[in-house]
Amino acid sequence: MMICPKIISKKRPLFTEPIFVVRPNLPSAEELSPLIAEMLKKRQVTNFGDFHNELEERIRRLCNVKYAVLCCNGTVGLFLLLRALGLKGKVVTTAFTFPATVHSVFMAGLEPVFCDIDPDGYTLDVDSVERSITKDTSCILGVNVFGNVCDVERLQALGKKHNIPVIYDSAHAFLCKYKNKYVGGFGYAEMFSFHATKLFTTIEGGVVTTNNRRLYVKLKQLINFGIKDEESVTGIGLNGKMSEINAIFGLLSFEQKDNILMKLARLSECYKKHLSAVPGIKLQKVREGCKINNQYMTIEVIPEEFGLTRDELYEALKEDNIITRKYFYPPAHKYECYRGFEFADKARLANTDTLSQRILCLPIYATLKIEDVKKICDLIVSIRDNSKKIRSRLKSRSSCRKNCV
Ligand SMILES: Cc1ncc(COP(=O)(O)O)c(C=O)c1O
Repeated sequence: MMICPKIISKKRPLFTEPIFVVRPNLPSAEELSPLIAEMLKKRQVTNFGDFHNELEERIRRLCNVKYAVLCCNGTVGLFLLLRALGLKGKVVTTAFTFPATVHSVFMAGLEPVFCDIDPDGYTLDVDSVERSITKDTSCILGVNVFGNVCDVERLQALGKKHNIPVIYDSAHAFLCKYKNKYVGGFGYAEMFSFHATKLFTTIEGGVVTTNNRRLYVKLKQLINFGIKDEESVTGIGLNGKMSEINAIFGLLSFEQKDNILMKLARLSECYKKHLSAVPGIKLQKVREGCKINNQYMTIEVIPEEFGLTRDELYEALKEDNIITRKYFYPPAHKYECYRGFEFADKARLANTDTLSQRILCLPIYATLKIEDVKKICDLIVSIRDNSKKIRSRLKSRSSCRKNCV
C-alpha cells in the first residue's frame, strides 16, 4: 500500500493528547468507598434503597417540586412519563434534539409532529407550535436545548388553551435556573438526564419531576414493571429503577455541584470573551431570566462570514486533537429510521435545518484548563484568518484519503 506524502507531512497538532468535548465529573475512590461499604453492609443494592430515596428527596427539595422519580436513564424516564400520561395521537415537539426525545415519543406509540425552533435560542418557536396543533394533538414536548429554557409562559398558555399537557425534556438543564428558581417545576413534568456526560451525574440515570400526584403514582409503578402491590400489576411498565450504586454517585455529585458550576461558568466566560466578536461565529441567545449551567459550549458557524463551514471547522480542529461535536446533526426528521414516515418526510423546518448544519459543541468540562480554552479560541481565530488555505488543505487531504490509502 502506498501512503500519500500529504498525509505523512501532517503538521504537529496543537495538543499532543486529545481534548475531548466532555469528560465525566467523578468522585475520588476515597469519597466513594465508605458509601459503597455501607451499601454492601446493608445488602440492599437496588429496589428503592436508602441511597436512592435520599437522592430522590434531595432532588425533590432542590427543584422545589412535590414529587421526583429517579430512573435508570433519562430516555426511559421520558418514555415512561409519556406512557404514564396515557396519551394518544400526536406530540408536538422539536427535531433539533438528541435521538432519545423523538424515539421516546415514537416508542410510546405516539406520532411526533415537528415544529421549528427559534433561530437564536434554539428552543421551540411557539408560533410554529401553535400552527402545528390540531385536534389530534395530545401533548407539547419542549426541549430545554443546551440548558436554555423554553418560553414556558407562552407554552403553558397554549397548553391551557388547547387543554393538553406541556412537558419538558430537560436532559441538559439540571441546575439551570429560570427567574431565580431551579428548573423542574414547569409544565406537567420534566425529565433530567444524569448520564456521565452531564455535569451532575449518576453515570447512567435520570429523574422525572412533577407536582401532579396521579402522574407520580402512575410513573412510580411503571418504572417498577407496573406493579401496584404484592398482588396486583396495573400498568404495562418495565424495569426503569435506579440502583444504589448509581444513587451514591448522585449523592456525591451533590457535594461537587457548586464547584463544578463555578468552573464551567469561568470556562464559558473565557470562550465568550474570546469568540463573541469573531466574524462568522454567533453564540446561543439565552432567554432573559434564565441562568444556564454551562454544561455545553456551543457556537454557530456562519460559513459566509467565517470562511469555512461548521464541518470544515470540525475537521480543522480535529487535526489539532480538539474533538468537538456536531449537535444536533442530523436533525430528527432526517434520521434514516424515520424515512418513509410522513411526519419526517413532510417536515419543513428551515431554522432546524440551518442550525443542524452550523452548531458545533466545543470542549467544556470542569477539569479543562482555562489556558487550553484560550489556546482553542486562538486556534479558531487563526483558522478563520487562514480559511482559504485550510479549506484547500482539507480538500486535498480528503481526496488523498479516498485515492491513496
Ligand atoms: C435532549 C436529550 N434528551 C434525552 C437524552 C437522553 O438521556 P439519557 O442519556 O439519560 O438516556 C439526552 C442525552 O444526552 C438528551 O441530550
